[in-house]
Amino acid sequence: MPARNTPMYWGWVAKSFHWLMFALIVGAWFAFEQHEDFPKGSTERAEWMNLHRAFGASVFFLVWLRLAWRFSGPAPDSVITSKWQHRAAEGVHWALYFLMIMMPLSGLLMSQFDGRVVSWFGVFDIPVFLSENKPLAEQLKGLHEDVWWPLLLTLIGLHVAAAVWHQFIVKDGVLKRMLPFTSRS
Ligand code: HEM
Ligand code: HEM
Repeated sequence: MPARNTPMYWGWVAKSFHWLMFALIVGAWFAFEQHEDFPKGSTERAEWMNLHRAFGASVFFLVWLRLAWRFSGPAPDSVITSKWQHRAAEGVHWALYFLMIMMPLSGLLMSQFDGRVVSWFGVFDIPVFLSENKPLAEQLKGLHEDVWWPLLLTLIGLHVAAAVWHQFIVKDGVLKRMLPFTSRS
């Protein structure tokens, strides 16, 4: 399978980024959900939240590499024949990139203004380099939870619905070319 995209298929690098980011976002969501099952102040609750932050920070580190790779060569040719559908798909894709930056950025800044060191799976720490500002941390929390997250969920929903629609109704092979182990030029 080629590393680079071909006119018909995504290369393995783009596919790996896509599915790794998907797993990390699901991981961040899952860890957050788990932490809610434990009482405030418990070690388990704190550990799940640490995992949430580590998964989220990974998204922030990787999105820049993913974007650099995306701009380093052409994407496969679009197979969508309707102009508005093509524009809508592009709009959702760029909005997803934007949110893959904003979601973890608001989280990381929240930690900064809270004076909290973020550990990346215990491997290294992201130190606090901004001065503490609790009201700002609170505002960022609102942005993280009540603006970026519902927006990200909605767009993922639309994106997945479109992929499934293309696969089973339109049958134009759009999903297949993003799945692992499929390639043809
Ligand atoms: C793509 C990355 C991320 C996703 C998808 C994500 C998702 C979420 C979700 C779904 C919530 C709960 C929202 C709700 O209550 O409805 C949340 C809360 C939170 N996230 Fe993230 N997050 C990400 C990155 C981060 C990062 C990088 C940090 C910090 C370094 C962080 C820190 C927090 C904190 C502190 C809360 C609030 C916890 C509480 O309510 O006490 N998040 N996040
Ligand atoms: C966290 C969830 C997801 C995010 C953030 C996401 C993000 C993206 C982005 C940004 C692109 C555009 C790639 C580019 O043009 O550079 C893309 C493409 C694609 N995604 Fe996702 N995706 C997610 C989940 C999924 C899922 C669950 C599916 C399948 C059910 C899927 C199917 C596809 C397909 C088929 C393409 C290629 C579209 C084409 O070839 O024109 N995605 N995704």
